[in-house]
Amino acid sequence: MVDHVHVHPHDEIDRIAPEIYGHFAEHLGRCIYGGLWVGDDAEIETENGIRTDTLGLLEDIELPMLRWPGGCFADDYHWEDGIGPREERPRRRNLWWAQGREEVFEESNAFGTDEFLQLCERLDTEPYLASNVGSGSPTETVDWVEYCNFDGDTDYANRRRENGRDEPYDVPYWGVGNENWGCGGKYDPGDYALEFRRFAQYLRGYDRNMGDGSLELIACGHTTESWNREFMAGLGGDAHMVDHLSIHRYYSGGDAVDFDEEAYYKLFSNSLQLDGDIERTAGVLETYAPGADIGIAVDEWGVWHDQATADNGLEQPQTVRDAVSAAGVLDIFNSHADRVTMANLAQTVNVLQCLVETDEESAWATPTYRVFDLYTPHIGATALRTVVETDEHEVDADTPDVPLVSASASHSDGGVYVTLSNRDLEARTVAVDTGLDAAEAADGAEILFAGTDPSEFTTSDNADSFAAEVEQVETEGGTVTLDVPASSVVGVHLE
Ligand code: AHR
Repeated sequence: MVDHVHVHPHDEIDRIAPEIYGHFAEHLGRCIYGGLWVGDDAEIETENGIRTDTLGLLEDIELPMLRWPGGCFADDYHWEDGIGPREERPRRRNLWWAQGREEVFEESNAFGTDEFLQLCERLDTEPYLASNVGSGSPTETVDWVEYCNFDGDTDYANRRRENGRDEPYDVPYWGVGNENWGCGGKYDPGDYALEFRRFAQYLRGYDRNMGDGSLELIACGHTTESWNREFMAGLGGDAHMVDHLSIHRYYSGGDAVDFDEEAYYKLFSNSLQLDGDIERTAGVLETYAPGADIGIAVDEWGVWHDQATADNGLEQPQTVRDAVSAAGVLDIFNSHADRVTMANLAQTVNVLQCLVETDEESAWATPTYRVFDLYTPHIGATALRTVVETDEHEVDADTPDVPLVSASASHSDGGVYVTLSNRDLEARTVAVDTGLDAAEAADGAEILFAGTDPSEFTTSDNADSFAAEVEQVETEGGTVTLDVPASSVVGVHLE
C-alpha cells in the first residue's frame, strides 16, 4: 500500500505568517529563571545574565516571535516591578507557579521588560507582551506601551532612557489579558468584551495619537465556541478593535514515556482537535465580523503530559512522540495560513513542550526543536493546498480519527518544500506528487527519528542522536517516493 500526498502547486492558501512559528516563555518553573536567565553571578557562562548555551540553541533556529511574561502570570504581573536597578526591584509573589522544584512561589523580578526585549533583539524575534487585565488597569498597560515604544519626552520614555535604553523597542503585539475566562480574572464573555473595549480604547488612543498605528491587539478567546460568540457579540460595533482572537489548546498523552498503543494514538487524536478549533473560531469571526481582518492566534499550544504538574514547574520528558505530534500541528497551521496569524508553542525552555532543556551545566535541543528546525523553510513561504490519501487509525468517538500520514507544502523562491510525518508504528511508503513535471529533490530528504522508539526522550547525553539524517531519494515525473520510517518526520525540497 502506498500513501499519496498531492501538492497543488497553483492552489495557494496564503503566506505562512512567520509568527505561526512563534514561542511562549512564562515566569513559570525553570523556563525563565534557570533555563534562560541565571544572572551575572552564575557559575555558568552568560551574556548579560542569559545563559549562552540556551542562547546559542535559540539563535540557531528561527524564532520569529516570543510571547511573555505569561500565561496566568501575566494577569498578576505589574511590569514596573521589573525595570530599573536590579537590586532595587521588589520581590513579589508568583501567585500561580513555583520557581523550580522547591515550591518557592517568589518572583525576584531580575528578568523584566528590558531584559526580555533585549533578548528578543538579540534573537531577531518579534516580542509579544501579554498585559494584565485581571488585576491591572488600562493605565498600567498604556504606560507599559509608552515605556517600550515612545520616542518623546515623557516620564516613561525617559525612565526607559535612564535604564540605559535610548531607542524605543517598538513592540508590535499586545495581548489584552490571558485566559480571562480563568486565571485572568474569571470573567464571563460579555464582561470581558466590555473590559477588552475599555483597554483597547486607550491602547488605540495611544497608537493613534502617539504611536504609528502599528499596534496589534490580541483578545482572549476560547476553544469553546459559545465564549467566542458571546465575546464577539459583546463587542457590538467594535470588533475592528481586535486584530487577533486567541485560542489555547493543550493535549495530553497520558504518561509521557510509558504509553501503550492506544495511548500513543490518543495523543495524535487529541492534537488534531486544533483543526476543528480553528474552523469553529473562523466560523464565529465570519458570523460576527464578516470581512474584518481578524486573525486567529493559537498563542498557547502543545503537549501536557501527566508528569507536568504545578509542583514540578510543569516539567515532563521530551519524547519523539511529542515531536511527531508537533509536526502534524504545524501542518494544520500551514493549511490554515489564511486564518491563523500567530501561534506560540508552550514553553521554550524546560517547561511543557519545550525547544530547549537545561541542567546546571548544559543545555540541549529537544526532539521538538528538531521538528521546528526542519519546518523552517515554510516560514514566510506561501502555503499550497495539499491532499493526503492514507489510512486512518480510529481512537474513540470523542476525538478525531488519526490519518497515519500528515503533510503540508509551501513554495517560495527556493521551490516547493514538503514536510510529512508518519504517525504509524510501522514504516510507510509515501508518494509525494508535486504537480510539477520536472521537480527534483536535489538535496535528498531530511529524516528525523528514523529507528528511534517514539517513547525515547532527550537527556544531556543523547540529544545529538535526534538530529536529522539525509537520504537520497528518487524523483520521477515530479513525484518523489519515500520510505518513511515509523514515528518519523521528513522534509524534502523540490525544485
Ligand atoms: O502554559 C501554562 C499555563 O497554561 C499558562 O500559564 C496558562 O495560560 C495556561 O492555562
